[in-house]
Amino acid sequence: MFRKVLVFAGSTRSGSFNRQLAEAAMKTLVQMEADVTMISLADYPLPLVDEDLKKEKGVPENAVRLARFFASHDAAFIASPEYNSSIPPLLKNTIDWVSLVKSDGSGPVKPYAGLTIALGAASDGALGGIRGLYHLRSVLMNVGAQIVTEQCSVSRASKAFGEDGMLADERLASKLKSACRALLDHSISRRAR
Ligand SMILES: Cc1cc2nc3c(=O)[nH]c(=O)nc-3n(C[C@H](O)[C@H](O)[C@H](O)COP(=O)(O)O)c2cc1C
Repeated sequence: MFRKVLVFAGSTRSGSFNRQLAEAAMKTLVQMEADVTMISLADYPLPLVDEDLKKEKGVPENAVRLARFFASHDAAFIASPEYNSSIPPLLKNTIDWVSLVKSDGSGPVKPYAGLTIALGAASDGALGGIRGLYHLRSVLMNVGAQIVTEQCSVSRASKAFGEDGMLADERLASKLKSACRALLDHSISRRAR
């Protein structure tokens, strides 16, 4: 059965390297016959997580929309920048708001349970954002997602992508393929359950 895979970047910066990595992952997953939905977090702006705000107004509609997306896909590929060796606030805030969604008005929603995730990171620095991925992995495990071991971190990102949008370096391209393959192999169809 085709896996439904959600792909997005943890950055909305114009010219984002992680958006480029997310696009390369999307193409790789499509070649592997996945049914891919690519979104941008720019289309789901959220205030900073605030429990008083939640109490007064409930969880923002964009968090509910994202939670529905998470719940209706078998797998996700997230390409995230590293900020000060950790998770960028945009992504952490999104994960936190979505973790607060328990229902979408018409029934219960479980955004993370049963969702398998593969991670990537891109940075123009030498470490390719790999340190941030360990924090991201830990947070996503805590909210109940399954994270595949294989991941792809891209250093010197400004020079890493070819004109076709794919990773020019063979070793990195193969890392991305392995992460995508593992994502499809380990994910479980949530429609069948
Ligand atoms: C507050 C802040 C902290 C950063 N810390 C790191 C870091 O620890 N490691 C790193 O490789 N890059 C760091 N960067 C640089 C980002 O990796 C760089 O801006 C990257 O291009 C962001 O990803 P994007 O291109 O997808 O927007 C930092 C950037 C900001 C704004």
